Amino acid sequence: MKGNELRQAYLQFFENKGHLKLDSFSLIPDNDPSLLLIGAGMAPLKPFFTGKLVPPRTRITTSQKCMRTGDLENVGRTARHHTFFEMLGNFSFGDYFKKEAIHWAWEFLTEVIKLDKSKLYVTVYPDDEEAYNTWLNDCGVPADHISRLEDNFWEIGEGPCGPDSEIFFDLGPERGCGCDDCAPGCDCDRYLEIWNLVFTQFNKTATGEYEPLAKKNIDTGAGLERLASVLQNCESNFETDLIFPIIEATAKKAGVTYHTDANTDVSLKVIADHARAVTALISDGVLPSNEGRGYVLRRILRRAVRHGRLLGIEGPFLTPLVDVVVDILGPGIQSIAEKQDFVKRVVANEEERFNQTLAQGLDLLSSLIDSLVDEKATVLPGTEVFKLYDTYGFPWELTEEIASERGLAIDHEGFDAAMQEQRTRAREARASEDAKVATPDITYLANETLTEDESATESEVLMIGKGSDRIETAADGDEVTIIVRSTPFHAEGGGQLGDTGFITGPMGKMEIHNTKRLPEGTVYHIGTVVEGSLNQGNKVQVNVDVARRNSMARNHTATHLLHAALKTVLGAHVNQAGSLVTPGYLRFDFTHFSPVTQEELNQIEYLVNEEILKATDVAIAEMSMDEAKEKGAMALFGDKYGDVVRVVEVPGFSVELCGGSHVGNTAFIGTFRLISEAGIGSGVRRIEAITGAAAVEAARHDRETISEMAATLKTKPNQVQERLHQVLEEAKSVERELADIRKDLAATGVADVVSAKVMVNDVPTVLAMVKASDMDNLRDYADKGIEQLGSGVVLLASVNEDKINFVCKVSKDVVKRGAHAGNIVKAAAQAAGGNGGGRPDMAQAGGKDPEKLNDALRAAGEALKAMLG
Ligand code: ALA
Repeated sequence: MKGNELRQAYLQFFENKGHLKLDSFSLIPDNDPSLLLIGAGMAPLKPFFTGKLVPPRTRITTSQKCMRTGDLENVGRTARHHTFFEMLGNFSFGDYFKKEAIHWAWEFLTEVIKLDKSKLYVTVYPDDEEAYNTWLNDCGVPADHISRLEDNFWEIGEGPCGPDSEIFFDLGPERGCGCDDCAPGCDCDRYLEIWNLVFTQFNKTATGEYEPLAKKNIDTGAGLERLASVLQNCESNFETDLIFPIIEATAKKAGVTYHTDANTDVSLKVIADHARAVTALISDGVLPSNEGRGYVLRRILRRAVRHGRLLGIEGPFLTPLVDVVVDILGPGIQSIAEKQDFVKRVVANEEERFNQTLAQGLDLLSSLIDSLVDEKATVLPGTEVFKLYDTYGFPWELTEEIASERGLAIDHEGFDAAMQEQRTRAREARASEDAKVATPDITYLANETLTEDESATESEVLMIGKGSDRIETAADGDEVTIIVRSTPFHAEGGGQLGDTGFITGPMGKMEIHNTKRLPEGTVYHIGTVVEGSLNQGNKVQVNVDVARRNSMARNHTATHLLHAALKTVLGAHVNQAGSLVTPGYLRFDFTHFSPVTQEELNQIEYLVNEEILKATDVAIAEMSMDEAKEKGAMALFGDKYGDVVRVVEVPGFSVELCGGSHVGNTAFIGTFRLISEAGIGSGVRRIEAITGAAAVEAARHDRETISEMAATLKTKPNQVQERLHQVLEEAKSVERELADIRKDLAATGVADVVSAKVMVNDVPTVLAMVKASDMDNLRDYADKGIEQLGSGVVLLASVNEDKINFVCKVSKDVVKRGAHAGNIVKAAAQAAGGNGGGRPDMAQAGGKDPEKLNDALRAAGEALKAMLG
C-alpha cells in the first residue's frame, strides 16, 4: 500500500465511524503562544479538548503535518526520527472513550491494513484495568503481548493530557538490541511504536497542575511514515515511497549510491528529511530569519546544504528537491501542492545566500579545528562560534555538529556571552540615539489617570523633564519632555511618525516636535519652549498640527489599501516587512521575489484608487483577538497584541490590526500615486507612494514639465511625443548627411596630401597628418588617398583628444613587393607610445603621444624602406 493510499484509508475508516475529516492544520500554531510549531495531531485542536471552543463535530479525524526538532541530531541516524512527519489521528471530544478507541485501532490494524496479529504488542498505564481488559478480552490480545508501563502518560506542554496505551509492531529479533529485558518501550529498533491512544482526561495548567476535564476525550496518533514502513516492509521510514524518491534524486545529483557507505546514507537521509520539512514550513508561510520559526527553518535548510557539501555536491541542489517533495506529498496535502513556486523561490534565495558564505566559513572552521586538534584542545571557543554565526550565518548547532565530528565540544557560555555583548552594543547604540529624549522617572504618576483622546483641547501639565531630571519650570528656549493629563497627540508607532503641534499655558507656549510612548505605555511629548515659560501644574491648551496629521492619516489608510492591493495583484505570499508613514509620503516594504512589472504596478495603483473613489467609510473598532481574526485581520507574525486589539477596516477590501491615524472615509485620501518600486534585500521589495495634495502637486509638476518641453519643441503639450520622435528622426538624418559630407571632404582634402607624396625607393608614398573627426573618417581619407594614388602607400595620422590615430593602406602591387600595412602602422604607433597592426593591405592603430607625430611618420617611412629592401 502506497503512503498516500494509507493516509486515505485511515481517514476513510474513521469517516465511516462518524468522524469529520479535516485538512491538516498549518504548522504555525493559531493563537497558541505556548507552541512554536505544531508537533502533534491534537495540538491545533486544544481548544476543543479544553472546551474553550465548540468543535464542528464531536468526532474528528486528520492527517496532521507535524514538526519536531528536539532530536535533530538523531535524524538520519535512526530508522524513525524525523523533523517533519504526518500524524494520523482520530479524536473524540466528550463523545466515545477508551473502549471504542481501542476496538477501532485494532480493527484498522488487523482488518483494514491486515497487520500480522502475532507481531502486535500493546502497553497500558499500570493501573488502567479498563484498557488492559479491553485489549485482553475484547480484542483477544494474548496476555504476554500486553505490558504495563509507568511512562504511558502523554502530555505536550500545557493542555490536554492523560494516560495512554501504545501499540507496537515487532520487527524481529534481528533488529533488536539482544538484551534479556528487550520489550516494547525499549530504545532499540525491534519494537516499533506505531500508534498511541491517549485517554485525555486532564488539562495541564501553565503552573503544572493537572485539572480533571469536564468531559473525557480521545486523542490518538499514528506516524504515517512508520506505518508505511511496516506495510511496505522497509528497513526504515526513509525507504518508503513517502521519502525514498528524494534520496534517489539526491544520490543521483551527488553521483553516490545509497547503502554503500554509512556516512553517505546519513547525509542522504538528512537531506531527504529536511527537504520535506523546508517545503512544508515555507508553504505554511514560515520565512527564513534569525528568530523563532524562521530560525528553525533557516537552521534545517542550512543543515541540508551542509550535508549536500559532505556528499560532494558543489552548487545549489535543494530547489529541484522541492519538486520531488511536492510530487510525493502534493496529492495528499493541499498547502504543499499550492505553494510550489513560492517555496522554490524562497529556497533558491536562501540557498544562494548561504552558499556565498558557506565555503569561506567552512574553510575557516576546519583550519581552526585543525589547529585546536593539533594543540590537543577539546573545546571550540565561544567567540569563534559567535563569529561564525554572526559573519557566516552558521547556526551554532551546525558548528557544534561539525566540531563534534572532530571530537570538539563548543563553549556555549562563551557563545552566549558574545551574543549578549553584541546585543548590549546594539542597545547602547540605540540608547545613545534616544538619550536626547530620555525622560525622568515617572513612577510618581502611577495613581494619576492619563488619557489619550483625539478630541481633547484642554489639559494639565503633569511632568516636565530635562534629560533625566524633573524640573518645575521650562523657560524660553528649553528643550524638554512633557506629559499632560489628557493628550490628543498620537505617539510614534507602527511606522507612523509622532504628532507635532503646540501646548500653550497661561505664561508661555511650547512647540512639540515629536510624540512618543514609553515602554509601559505613557505618551510623552518632546518640544521646545518658544515663548515665555511653562510650569508643572499649568492648565494648558493642546493643539495638534491637524493638517500634518491628516496627511499622515491619508498615507496610513493608503498603506492599508496598498497592502491589500499587493496581495490581490501579486499573491497571498506578500507580507509586510516594514512601513513608514510620514506626512509627505508612505513607504511599504514587503516580501516578493521578483521586480514588480509596470503592468502590475498599474494594476495596484488602479485598485487603490478604485477604493478611494468608492468613498467607503473606514471602520475602527476595538475587539478581542479572536474576533479580529474572524474578520480576517492581517496581523504581522511576531507582533505582540494584547487581548483587546484595534481593528481598522475598509469594508470589503482591507482589515488590519493597527493603532495609527486613519481617514474617516477613503475619499479623503483624494488620490494615490506610486512613485517608486525597488528591491532592498533578498526577497524584500520597497514601494513608495504619495497621496492627497502631494499627488496633486506631483501631477502639476509633470504637467509643467510637459508644457516646458512643448514650448522648447514648439508644439502643443498633447503633441510632444509625436514631435519628439520627429526631432530624433531629423537628428538621425542630419547625422547621416554629415557623414556623407565628411566623406566628400575627405576626397577633396586628401588631394593636397597626395600631391605631397614622396618616393620611398621607387614607391609613391604619402606620409601625412589630416584632420579627421574619428577613425571612420580617417579610413575614408585613406581610401580616397590610395584611390587617387593608384599604386603606392598611404599612411595618414590624425590627432583626436590627446591621441593619434593611424591608418595605412598599401596597393596590391606594392604588397607583392614586400610592403606590409600592419607593420608600417605598428612602427608608427610604437614611435608614438602605442601599438597596433593589421593586414598587409590595410591596418589601423593608435598612439598616445601626439607630440611624437613626426617621429611616428619618420618611423613609418623607415619601416617601409626596410621592407622594400
Ligand atoms: N498526541 C499523541 C501523540 O502525539 C497521540 O503521541
